[in-house]
Amino acid sequence: MGTAIYYFSATGNSLTVAKDLAANLGEAKLIPITKAIKDLSSQNFDIVGIVYPVYMFGLPLIVADFFKQIKLKPQTYIFEVATLGGAPGLSHTQAKNILKERGLCLCAGFSVVMPGNYTPLYGALPLEKQEEMFRKEKLRVNTIVNAVKAKKCGIMEEKPFLANFILNKLLYKGGTKQIPLSGKNFWAADTCIKCGLCAKVCPVDNVEMAEGKPRWLSHCQHCMACLQWCPVEAIQYKKSTLGKRRYHHPGIKAEDIIKQAQALDG
Ligand SMILES: Cc1cc2nc3c(=O)[nH]c(=O)nc-3n(C[C@H](O)[C@H](O)[C@H](O)COP(=O)(O)O)c2cc1C
Repeated sequence: MGTAIYYFSATGNSLTVAKDLAANLGEAKLIPITKAIKDLSSQNFDIVGIVYPVYMFGLPLIVADFFKQIKLKPQTYIFEVATLGGAPGLSHTQAKNILKERGLCLCAGFSVVMPGNYTPLYGALPLEKQEEMFRKEKLRVNTIVNAVKAKKCGIMEEKPFLANFILNKLLYKGGTKQIPLSGKNFWAADTCIKCGLCAKVCPVDNVEMAEGKPRWLSHCQHCMACLQWCPVEAIQYKKSTLGKRRYHHPGIKAEDIIKQAQALDG
């Protein structure tokens, strides 16, 4: 019974949307996907929302795995919300297909544009642009809440036109194969103050501290949390992030992101 909002978030955009949904849907439980994926016992919720960032035009690996494993009643009203920097890709179609194969129905897939956080390609947007997006996010959440309360079905906020399809196939299928090992391309500059925050915020415990410096393991999600939350911007990805402005949502604290990793420990 009741409502559950599951989330995965590295820089706080998806967590903000998840929190706003939970607050407006009333009595909703907010659950990190990192925790839920460890306990896959059957869930009895009437309404289930899943909030996540778009990665490479599709679902983050951990979110795809979650869709493949979550146990829900067939009559559950399932919706999902993708936060993204502007290129939606086919994450809703991907989620819908995974659920369909399992006899479950995705009722609605919503998209919320937020500041992009993929620093290897671009730096953070100017603050005024970010604030404009945050204002629009509140309005989008209101629309989504109304649709969910009315249990609307058939909403799919993506454009599966040809270019999108090709990008998803080429970039997603090709790119995601490299993701778990992509940690080997992160490094800490000499300005690293050895605070260990990069290891703490990693939602999947892929960063450990060795002799005071971060070391990346082999189950990376490529989420950029380690790089974005570093208080002295010492963490880099190859050379492509040098000199680029970092980003995390101003309404979310590192502690909120750390909770996802703590969920891994039980
Ligand atoms: C590895 C990676 C890939 C991304 N790929 C896309 C993409 O294909 N399209 C897009 O619009 N945004 C993309 N983004 C941006 C994020 O989807 C967006 O900033 C999201 O709101 C971040 O959510 P979070 O703060 O909850 O982690 C990507 C970000 C990362 C880290």
